[in-house]
Amino acid sequence: MNETLERWSSRRAFILAVTGAAVGLGNIWRFPYMTGENGGAVFLLLYVAFVVLLGLPVMMAEILIGRAGRRSPMHSLAHLAQQAKVTPHWRWLGAFGALTVFLILSFYSVVSGWSIEFLVEAVNGDFVGLGPAEIGANFDAFLADPLRMTFNHTLFMILTMSVVAAGVANGLEKLNNLMMPLLYVLLVVLVIHAAFTDGFAPALTWLFRPDMSALSVGVVINALGHAFFTLAVGACALMAYGAYMPDHQSLPRAAGAVAILDVAVALLAGIAIFSVVFAQGMDPGEGPGLMFVTLPIAFAELPWGSLWLGLFFLLLLLATWTSSINLAEPMVATLQGFGLRRSRATAIVALGVWLAGMLSVLSFSTMAEVHWLAGMNFFELVTTVPTDVFLPIGGLLIAIFAAWVLPRDTALRALDAGPNGFRAWRALVRFVSIPLTLIVLLSGLI
Ligand code: TRP
Repeated sequence: MNETLERWSSRRAFILAVTGAAVGLGNIWRFPYMTGENGGAVFLLLYVAFVVLLGLPVMMAEILIGRAGRRSPMHSLAHLAQQAKVTPHWRWLGAFGALTVFLILSFYSVVSGWSIEFLVEAVNGDFVGLGPAEIGANFDAFLADPLRMTFNHTLFMILTMSVVAAGVANGLEKLNNLMMPLLYVLLVVLVIHAAFTDGFAPALTWLFRPDMSALSVGVVINALGHAFFTLAVGACALMAYGAYMPDHQSLPRAAGAVAILDVAVALLAGIAIFSVVFAQGMDPGEGPGLMFVTLPIAFAELPWGSLWLGLFFLLLLLATWTSSINLAEPMVATLQGFGLRRSRATAIVALGVWLAGMLSVLSFSTMAEVHWLAGMNFFELVTTVPTDVFLPIGGLLIAIFAAWVLPRDTALRALDAGPNGFRAWRALVRFVSIPLTLIVLLSGLI
């Protein structure tokens, strides 16, 4: 396979594309409920530490490989391995990444479909005058309705794949330009509103005052997996985006900007959501429904609440859209690398992911009690194992390839941060990121 000629139109476009990939359900939906289930501030602390020590350096490693290879993840790895005179089996890392994003996208599409449902309900004014209990019951009724869930999941797959089919470096930029700033504005409005409620002070305590007794191996592993998930690192998906990176752009600077923007969204969403949780006396460990129940309650208290709520779900939808495009890209690029036309590759991926997603849809009704592994139904399985196990393993291998296998000059050029920047990055990956990931993964096994 030859080098791709596709490029993001500017440095800014690249940063926006990666931020669009990073910011999504991970920040607004997953971060709050994981924090709720994992003891609050301890989880937040670990997650931020992992973002800095592992997520960021490995993100640079991943993008760097794509940029140096300028091909689909599998083909970039094969090509660079050949250059470095090591085994071509490294390409299987690209296939492993494709499997990981396949599983993640299958549930991601289903949950994004929930935003479509809530967007419509909000605009219809369905939440007007409802109390917390009724809002919760409404959500449960929706989950128990496989037809409505299938409809939304299908719609979301169509949205995603229509952009992917057109080629991501073109379709994505305008979407990002519009959505990202609006999302921040709306989250800030929510946090300001929260500051005037009774839940605000306990929410801050919960998020920022660590209770060390909540610490356990499980919490550490969840924080590790979440750090990779939220940055979109570990599945070769950013590698695919790196292939389209412009020639003159410092990678550490771009990655640093993305990480800051990404963590900011999680913190804002967390403060807004936990303020409602504590004001209403709800359980922080309520699970995946947390955001979908708390936010309608919060917005209901605002003037023009339905309008704000609708706008929020619209922005969430746009945010998940740009993330799912990123999730689909490595699979499509890989099939394309094997000679398929882009449209056909997209259709195959879409069908496969849609089918797997149906297993998640049914996990809330007919297949709720079908256990696949360790007592987990399909939805529980795909929302944990690929994130907590596959992403760290993928990230580890990506880091080893970039920092130990790639020839120095190739990596130095692709990082584009000068010799000192390069040395600092490589030392961090070699002596901090790789050992730390290994330790956490192994402690999980035991
Ligand atoms: N980071 C996205 C989120 O937080 C999800 C995501 C997009 C992702 N691309 C990815 C996760 C690649 C893992 C790998 O919602």
